[in-house]
Order: sequence, then structure tokens, then C-alpha cells
Amino acid sequence: MAARLSAGAATASVLPLAVAGHACAAAGRAYAAKPRRATATSADVKTESVTGDASLGVHAAAHGLLYGCAVNMNALGADAAYAALVREQCRIVVAENAMKWGALRPSAEGFNFDQADALVAFAESNRMKIRGHNLVWHQNNPKWLEAMATEANARELLVTHIETVAGRYAGRMHSWDVVNEAIRVEDGRADGLRNSVWLRLIGEEYIELAFKTAREADPQALLTYNEYGIEAETREGEQKREAVIEMLRRMVARRVPLDAVGVQSHIAAAATVAAGGNKSAASQVGAGLMRFIAAVRELGLQVFITEMDVNDRALAADGPGRDAAVATAYRQYLELVLGDAAVKAVLTWGITDRYTWLDHEEGRADGKAERPLLFDAAGKAKAAFFAVREAFDQRGAAS
Ligand code: XIL
Repeated sequence: MAARLSAGAATASVLPLAVAGHACAAAGRAYAAKPRRATATSADVKTESVTGDASLGVHAAAHGLLYGCAVNMNALGADAAYAALVREQCRIVVAENAMKWGALRPSAEGFNFDQADALVAFAESNRMKIRGHNLVWHQNNPKWLEAMATEANARELLVTHIETVAGRYAGRMHSWDVVNEAIRVEDGRADGLRNSVWLRLIGEEYIELAFKTAREADPQALLTYNEYGIEAETREGEQKREAVIEMLRRMVARRVPLDAVGVQSHIAAAATVAAGGNKSAASQVGAGLMRFIAAVRELGLQVFITEMDVNDRALAADGPGRDAAVATAYRQYLELVLGDAAVKAVLTWGITDRYTWLDHEEGRADGKAERPLLFDAAGKAKAAFFAVREAFDQRGAAS
């Protein structure tokens, strides 16, 4: 059994946020644990400038942070207002899907880099950094992969893919998510590793193989392990954090080339915050996550918040506090994690509600569109935008 995470410097109070893994949304039943500052009103939202020096990218940079978002390539090509929004706000971008196996590998023999190249060109022409996502995952793989991969050819398939993809963009990437979501405690292994196609065919050394191959293919990119479900102050969250940190410790001890950990941060707004707050049982965010971040820092690794969004499934569609509760979740989560200097980047998973992936996942029970991001479907800054910007501003001076 993995040792418990040692207590770090963090003494964070528990925050009233529900946390949702992307497979199953937790209902947000939480309460306000600390006083909330006023969020921007809709009147502020209309008049205040949010571009140029007022943008998230500029505010983040002033506090030693990179801000950016995941980019939907279909929207980037078709929606000029969306492209302008990304350009105005982001200093770093990541492809929401275009660099996954499912997009790059139409066939076992071939690669299709059209969308990935388009993202790199967009980023470079706008002087943005680029995160690569991802080289190894159990999801979004092409159908042919599981059909043709065998114990005999899996290593070669993996190595060729990483050499080709990371090699193509070598020297131009800020970071690569080399392995995504390798831990799943429910799969029952003592080491917590997920029973993925790569584990079955290669064994646990697929992780080391992937990182070593990525380092050789692109020595300049920061190599990242990216994971979800490590945010919640629940037993499941703690078990997952323990399994992840044990895996990271084994990797560092074996000198696996690893530079950073991505905390995906798909969280949920708490219904009771929208309702004014009351005390009830909750999935919460707090000291456990901060101990995890401290442990990652003590391993000499950076931390990136890689995929933040705040689903609003637990909130009444027409309740007055819906956008305010989402903003509160952003503010409290970011104020907490940005308290650790190891956190160097914040990316949201999308930027406008118009293109959120959540509408295509579980969605709201009432069938209405989710509002989990920083700009509304018409491209107007929401209270969440101002909450994020203020959380960046509180971070202290750039280091
Ligand atoms: C999601 C995309 O947003 C969707 O468009 C796609 O259908 C599935 O993948 N964790 C990750 C991301 O690491 O790659 C996922 O992105 C969201 C959860």
C-alpha cells in the first residue's frame, strides 16, 4: 500500500467545490467555508476592457504564470471571433484533440498532421507557446490500434509514434503530455496502474519507454505526466493522489526524464454556493491537493493546471447565482493552487461556452447548454473571467 502523502507546507482550508472526473460528474453539494469577495456584476462585465493589458495572458505573465486554453481546431478554422479571442487571451495553447492518436493516425501506416500543423502555425504566428497533448492515452485511440496491436509489436508502435510526432515539432513545444491518465485505482493493481492497452501489451515499463523516447525526440520540451481526479478532498481523491505520487517517486528514482505534472482540474460548481451557502456533505478541494502539489514540488517537478473548467450541472438553469457560482469555483480553486510556487501555468479546457466539450459528454440533466468557461457563447467575458484574472493578480510578483 502506498505511503500517505507527507504533510507539506500547505495549510489550505477546504474549499466548497465539487470535483468531477470526466467519466462521472459529482453532484456539487458543498458549502461556503470562507467569506466570498464580491464577483464582477454583469454591469462590470459589459464595460470593462478585457483585451491587451487587461487580458488573462498579460495578467498571468505579470505573476510568473502562463495562461492559455485548449483549442478546437474546427472552430479555429471557421469562427474568426473565436480565433481572435484565443489570440487576445492566450500565451500558450494546446490542441483539444488534434494531437491525439485518434486525430493523427487515420491508419497504422500513416499520419495526418493537417490540424496539428495548423495549430502550431497559428501559435507561432501569434508568438504563443504550445503544449502537446498527448502521446500515450487509453482513450481517443483509432480503432485499428486495439485491433492490430500485439505484445510483439506494441513497443515499436509506441516508439514510432512518439519519435514521429514529438520529433516533428522538436524544439518548438513548451511541453508534452507524454502519458495521460495512467492511474486507475479501481482496476485493482497494487501500484494503481490503469489496465490500458499499453499496460496489457507492454507492461508497466510502457511509461518509462514513452518518456525516454519523448526526451530523445524533443530534448527541449518539458515532459509532463497528466492526470484527472486528483483534486477532490475525498477518499477516492486521496487514494488516487497516493498512487500517482508513488508512481512519480518511482520514476524520479529511476531517472525517467520527467519535468512536470499536469493537474487537469475538471471541477464542478457547488449548488449550495449558488444558493447562498449552507453546510452539507461535499466533495471538496483543499489540503489533500495542496499536499500533493507540495510533494510534486519536493520531487523537483513543476505543476501545470492543464484542463480547468467548472461544470454547472448541479446548478438550477435559471437561478440567479449560476454564473457567480462558477466564478467562485474558479476563484477559490486558483487562489488555493496558485499559493504554491511550483504551479507555473494555467490552461482552461476551452475558453468560450460556445465550444465546451461538456455539452458532448454527460451534459446537464435539463438538456440546457453548460456554462463552464470564461466567455459566454457570444464571446463576452463572464464573471468567471474576472475571478480568474483576480486570482492571477493575487499571486504576488513575477518570479
Ligand atoms: C476531450 C475533448 O475535449 C473531447 O472533444 C473529446 O471528445 C474527448 O477528449 N481529459 C483529457 C482530454 O485529457 O484530452 C479530454 O478532452 C478531456 C478529459
